Amino acid sequence: MSDTDLDPNELKMFSFKVWSYKMGEQVAMLVHLGDRLGLYQAMADKGPMTSQDVADATELHERFVREWLMGQAAAGLIDHPESGVFELSEIQAAVLAAEDTSINFSAGAFRGGFEPALLDAIADSFKTGIGITYQQQGRAAAAGLARMTGVRSRLELTSVILPGLDGVVAKLEAGARVLDIGCGAGVTLACIAEAYPNTTCVGYDPSANAIELARDEAAQKGLDNCEFVVAGAEDIPANADFDLVLCFDCLHDMPRPDKAATAIRRAIADDGTWLIKDIRSTGDFEKDKRNPLLALFYGFSVASCLQSAMSEPDGLGLGTLGLHPEVAENLVKDSGFSQIETHDFDDAANLYYEVRV
Ligand SMILES: C[S@@+](CC[C@H](N)C(=O)[O-])C[C@H]1O[C@@H](n2cnc3c(N)ncnc32)[C@H](O)[C@@H]1O
Repeated sequence: MSDTDLDPNELKMFSFKVWSYKMGEQVAMLVHLGDRLGLYQAMADKGPMTSQDVADATELHERFVREWLMGQAAAGLIDHPESGVFELSEIQAAVLAAEDTSINFSAGAFRGGFEPALLDAIADSFKTGIGITYQQQGRAAAAGLARMTGVRSRLELTSVILPGLDGVVAKLEAGARVLDIGCGAGVTLACIAEAYPNTTCVGYDPSANAIELARDEAAQKGLDNCEFVVAGAEDIPANADFDLVLCFDCLHDMPRPDKAATAIRRAIADDGTWLIKDIRSTGDFEKDKRNPLLALFYGFSVASCLQSAMSEPDGLGLGTLGLHPEVAENLVKDSGFSQIETHDFDDAANLYYEVRV
């Protein structure tokens, strides 16, 4: 079949759709550079600026800065009020520059593409059926992930999420034992250790890269009430004394979340709380298609979550959207928990499950 047999308008429209994803790839690279080079930060709260102003503020070369600015204006990510003048509005600054203060900060999620070796490994997984682990994704990926997921933990964990759970804050204030499984680079656990100095925190993750970052973070903050262990959920101690167990955006990444749940039942105190944060999905693809960012989540899955969930031959392979409410309920009930309450916490990407024995 040649193009002449096809409807020319449909062909043009579909071609445009495909190239718009290619444009997304290029704009994503520009956002990464803006974040990495401090360009957004240099423009925040500064009002209208010329390319020379931005170059001076960042000590970068004006010609490259000008091309970047025009690309950002073309993408609608910064304003361009008049010829040669650019401006980062308050809203743009919140999403692109304000990492410490805005729950909507997103620029940290832009990693600037994939290393060729990583892409080769992802392509190989389609042939072998065995995915790569988070450790195999490398240290930069672990650090990038922490910047993406860490914003909400830093800004809302102790002010919104933990106070929304039954009796947990009082225990943490008095001095409790907290276990964070799949803790990644430790941002969430460090927030708890910092806010509740009487509490003892332990983080587990099989990725040595992530645990190294977590230990660095704890050392930088001078936290002596948290420790980190390079090990998976299956290796947590079965001593039934943890008051709070966290699984943040990681159960769907585990090859055997069912074995993790059984291990958690043995590790948690009888009056303890298990808080699961996992990606919001319904379990029905047709309903999930209402999410305008759904393809983004499938991209995350093919590149990371499903990789990890299939990294062992007996992996259940849940993937990014696989831990929906029905799966969560079956998982916790099959492992000996009887109560599960779902929270929203106004988080567009995740649901939170408060689980008790
Ligand atoms: C998407 S990351 C989330 C990290 C962190 N909780 C956060 O919110 O940023 C998923 C984590 O699950 C970890 N993971 C994968 N398999 C695991 C297992 N069997 N036991 C514990 N953690 C696991 C990965 O190493 C990775 O750090």
